[in-house]
Order: sequence, then structure tokens, then C-alpha cells
Amino acid sequence: MSKPILLGVNVDHVATIRQARGASYPDPVHAALQAELAGADGITMHLREDRRHIQDEDVIRFAACTQTKLNFEMAATAEMVALAHKINPLDVCIVPEKREELTTEGGLDVAGNANVITPICNDLADADIRVSLFIDPDIKQIDATARAGAPFIELHTGSYAEAKTAAAQQSELNKLIEASAYAASLGLIVNAGHGLTRYNVAPIAAIEQVHELNIGHSLIADAMFMGLPEAVRQMRQLMREARQQSV
Ligand code: PXP
Repeated sequence: MSKPILLGVNVDHVATIRQARGASYPDPVHAALQAELAGADGITMHLREDRRHIQDEDVIRFAACTQTKLNFEMAATAEMVALAHKINPLDVCIVPEKREELTTEGGLDVAGNANVITPICNDLADADIRVSLFIDPDIKQIDATARAGAPFIELHTGSYAEAKTAAAQQSELNKLIEASAYAASLGLIVNAGHGLTRYNVAPIAAIEQVHELNIGHSLIADAMFMGLPEAVRQMRQLMREARQQSV
């Protein structure tokens, strides 16, 4: 029997459309609840320092009514740690953040910032919040995550998703496969995400140690044409089929 794989739906880009006009719609909380009803195992919201999409109130409203779980994505700052305590999500994923970037560009340098990240991991763990560190598939960063005390990693799949040739994509996939096995051997729970679409998700979902995939942009894009419930159902199905076939 294969281990089930979970789908976390990131609704940031529903808020992107709302913020483009400063309107009251579409509501990312409405989208999150629809995604839950369609079978999402959890919802991710990234509250960026510049509040370009998700707003504080979105996270607070969703945390109060989720039927699955909130994965609160945030930078390693005092402001965000205080908000995490206020919101009290089940999961926090710590990501690097630069104001000028379009999206989260690379993984967190846990090895180089252990003095900042370790106390945050301890502080959130004391509040029973499960911490995940978003890192590249790099042994040095996996070791640093284990030392920092975070129970989860989320492997950055951006280089895999953006690879231009089949050979380059296979090489990125091999790094993710090796990193997943290594992290699991240290007792870390392995999530993955970034840039995943219905066309490239299967090889990642087939990695047996991967516990959950977090997918946003492509799902919200598919939702424009097929509706969010159908987009979520299809993605979940593709993930499950890939996992079953990998056994
Ligand atoms: N996981 C993390 C940690 C992210 O920062 C993002 C992007 O916000 C995602 C997953 C989802 O990426 P995408 O929107 O490309 O599916």
C-alpha cells in the first residue's frame, strides 16, 4: 500500500486578483472553503511583508473557520512570529522573502541563518505550531534544518518546474528524490512545492517520502477555465494516481 499524499492549496493569487483593483472580491477565504469542500487537505496563505496579495484579515478569518488546516507561510521576522502566535495555525512554513521578487525565488539559507531561524522554530514549537522550512534540495540545508529543530521541510521544486530540457528536468528531479530520502532518514517530514502544474506534478507526487504538495498559481489559473473545485479534484487525482503507480 502506498502512503497517501496530501494536497495543500495556496490561495494567494485569488487575493492577487482582488488587490489588482483594490476590490472586495474575489475573496481568498471563499476560495479556501471551496477548495476544502473539493478535497484539499489544507490551505496555504502567504502573508508577505508588503501585503501584495493576502491581507492580515484574510488569514484571521480563515483560521477561524477552517475545516482542514491553515499553513501560514511567512518570513522569519519578529512581526510575522507575533502574527503566527495571534493566528495560531496548525502549520507555519518559513520562507525567504525579498520585496523586489515576483515570487519566492530560492530556498531559505538555514545553514547561514541558524541564529535567527532556530529560536523561531523553538518559539513556535512551544506554541504547538508545526514548523516547516522551505529549502532547496541541498544536503547542507537539510542538515541545518534538522539541527534547527523544525519537524518538516518543504523542498523547493522551482528549478525542476522551470527546467528547459528533459535532461535538466531529470537532473533536478534526481536532486529532489535524493534530498527526500536523506531528509526522511533524519526523521524529517518532507513537503514540496513551487511551480507545480497538472503537467509536471506526477514525478514529484511519485516520490514516496513526500507527504504533502503545496500548489497555488497553476491551480488558480486552471480554476479560471474549469472552476476551483474541479481544478482541485483533478490535481488530487493526478497526485494519487502518480503515488499509486510508483509502488
Ligand atoms: N510553497 C511555497 C513555500 C511557496 O512560497 C509557494 C509560492 O507562494 C508555493 C509552495 C506555491 O507555488 P506555486 O504558486 O508556484 O504553486
